[in-house]
Amino acid sequence: MSSLVHLAIIMDGNGRWAKKRNLPRAVGHLEGLKSLKKVLVGSINEGIKYLSLYCFSTENWKRPKEEVDYLMALFSNKIYGEIKTYNKLGVQIRFLGKRDGLPQKALDALDRAVEETKSNTALTLQLAINYGGQDEIARAVNKLISEGCKEVTPELIRSKFDNPDIPAADFIVRSAGEERLSNFLLFDSAYSELGFYDKLWPDWDEAMIKTVKEDYLKRERRFGGLL
Ligand code: IPE
Ligand code: IPE
Ligand code: MG
Repeated sequence: MSSLVHLAIIMDGNGRWAKKRNLPRAVGHLEGLKSLKKVLVGSINEGIKYLSLYCFSTENWKRPKEEVDYLMALFSNKIYGEIKTYNKLGVQIRFLGKRDGLPQKALDALDRAVEETKSNTALTLQLAINYGGQDEIARAVNKLISEGCKEVTPELIRSKFDNPDIPAADFIVRSAGEERLSNFLLFDSAYSELGFYDKLWPDWDEAMIKTVKEDYLKRERRFGGLL
C-alpha cells in the first residue's frame, strides 16, 4: 500500500450545482472556489504533498464568452488575492498549461503567485489553466524538435513538461459523476488510479479528501508487474 503523495482533481459540476438552485453558472464557479480552499486545507491535513487541480481546459474556450471572461477574471483576481493565505499554509503554487491565449492579467497573477510562494514546502498546488494533455505532449515534442532532437523517448518528452520535477499523480479523481479524463494528464495518467465521485464540486470539503485518501489506500497498484 503506497501513500497518497500526488492527488489530481478534475473539478466538475459547478454549472449543475448552480442550475439546481436556479442560479447563474457564475455563482457555481464562485462556490467552487470555496471548495477549492477547503480541499486544499484537507489535503494538507491528510499529508498530501502535491495537489493538481484542473481549472480550465484547452477546450473550455468553446464556452460562451461571458463565462470564459468570468473564469479568467477569477484566475486573475483570486489567485493573486490568496497569495497571503498560501504563504500562511505553506503552499507552493505552480502553473501547468499553455501560456498562449491566456490574458496577460491572469499570467501576471500566476507568475507572481509562483514567485512569491516558491520557498513553501507543506504542499505544492499545481494549477492547470488552459491545460490540455494533448497540448502538453505536443509542446514538449516541439521543444525537443527546436533543440535538434531526432528521436524522442517517453523520458525525453516528460523532461520537457512544464513541471517535470512533480511526480505523476497517484490518484486522479473527478467530481460530478462523469467518468472521463477530458484531456487531463494524458501522459502521466499511464498508471494513475482513477476515482469518480457523484458529489458536485461545490459540495466538496475537507472530509471528502479524507474519503478520497481512504479509497486510494484500498487500491492495489502493480504497474504491470506482479505483487
Ligand atoms: C467545472 O464545472 C469548472 C470548469 C470546467 C471551469 P463546470 O462548469 O464544467 O460544471 P458543469 O459540468 O457544467 O456542471
Ligand atoms: C473538465 O470539465 C475541465 C475542467 C474541470 C477544467 P468539463 O466540464 O470541461 O469537461 P466535459 O466537457 O464534461 O468533458
Ligand atoms: Mg463540466
